[in-house]
Amino acid sequence: MSVARGGRLAAADQAMLELNQSVEVDKRLWREDIDGSVAHIGGLEGAGILSSEEAQTLRDGLSQVAREIEAGQMQWDPVKEDVHMNIESRLVEIVGAVGGKLHTARSRNDQVATDLRLFARRRGVEILEALDGLGGVILGRAEEQIDVLMPAYTHLQRGQPSRLAHHLMAWQEMLWRDRGRLVDAITRLNESPLGAGAVAGTGFAIDRASVAQSLGFSGPMRNSLDATASRDFLMELVSALAILGVHLSRIGEEIVLWSSSEFGFMELSDGFSTSSSMMPQKKNPDVAELVRGKAALLIGATTTLMVLEKSLCFGYGRELQDDKRPLFDSCDNARIALNALAGAIETASFRADRLEGALERGHLTATDLADYLVTQGVPFREAHHIVGGLVRKASEQGIELSKLSAEELLAAHPSLQGSEVRAALDPRTAVERRALFGGPAKARVLEAIADARARWQLAQKESIAGA
Ligand code: ARG
Repeated sequence: MSVARGGRLAAADQAMLELNQSVEVDKRLWREDIDGSVAHIGGLEGAGILSSEEAQTLRDGLSQVAREIEAGQMQWDPVKEDVHMNIESRLVEIVGAVGGKLHTARSRNDQVATDLRLFARRRGVEILEALDGLGGVILGRAEEQIDVLMPAYTHLQRGQPSRLAHHLMAWQEMLWRDRGRLVDAITRLNESPLGAGAVAGTGFAIDRASVAQSLGFSGPMRNSLDATASRDFLMELVSALAILGVHLSRIGEEIVLWSSSEFGFMELSDGFSTSSSMMPQKKNPDVAELVRGKAALLIGATTTLMVLEKSLCFGYGRELQDDKRPLFDSCDNARIALNALAGAIETASFRADRLEGALERGHLTATDLADYLVTQGVPFREAHHIVGGLVRKASEQGIELSKLSAEELLAAHPSLQGSEVRAALDPRTAVERRALFGGPAKARVLEAIADARARWQLAQKESIAGA
């Protein structure tokens, strides 16, 4: 007879057992489960339900269970359904009948909600650390590559001259917002469900605030029904990871493109490349492709969690049990992707010759020439039209806008003469002219790097709730 069925029910059918059990997945919550139980023991002791000797016996018993699990000696039994019942029944085996007092004033509903919050907080902080690692790597590379120019693209067509560091800093900005979303999610989920019981609390005088405090939570959840039935904290964390995953996939896609012979902008180190089982010459950017793939899994997990809770009437419904795998997988996938991408970017080499060489084709300074005309009093629309005509002329001759003769330029507009025109057509000058806030001029990008470094460093010093 299984503990989970109590005295009410006879043995479960085999098919039910298979559906019902979750221990193969949720045993990963064992540490959080024991931490939650130790806090609950404090609550029971404070309420006079456990004597201090009994409380100590339970704590010692749980420490032994923890040691056994760590040593791989725990016999996880699917008949006992889940991590909670497995640990409790092992405790009873170790300490005897007094172990049966642990579950006073508690349900697996507030228990699992607590375990999940503790787990999400811990793993969330680990992911933050990995994200900080990637942010630091990108900032370092941006600083080091500050003088390298490259085209800025729209529609994957060369648009305007810019610099590699500005591009890398765009990645960084995106990741900085991901960091904020993660911190928000971790901060908001940091509340204690313990004491909420199955749904409507308990008649025992548990001091929920001090139990919450002993787990590093900001306080007890305000409503016992909500505390046991809501999983938006998981949706929020995992969807923040899904957005992060989408962002990493964009970086991954650029790495795939940039390390192709067609672009040749960068080369991954051997340590982050893979070979082909058939084609001996291959050096493949699998790291970036696998990172792209993780985004799919993260999006899928978010969908799973949302659909699990969709239309669920209050309170707890058993399908919530299936919230574990999407949470665990998302935390693993996000951390793995971040660490691999950080290593790949840190050890890659950028090819300045190819990056700057790409400025030579595509009439990249057309906007700058139009802007020059604007400085001569020509309305921008008209300037746009004039320069468009010149680009057409250059294209017909198979040359670049900057290679048109002085006569051809002058024929297009009387102001198109002199050294300022030639300067407008020079990519390096064009980049430096874009010296406004957010632009790619060297001084601006250096400022942006310094500002970002200060922000990331400050954020890393700020302690995250309860962690
Ligand atoms: N294994 C369950 C879960 O993860 C624990 C809660 C079970 N509660 C219940 N009333 N059957 O959701």
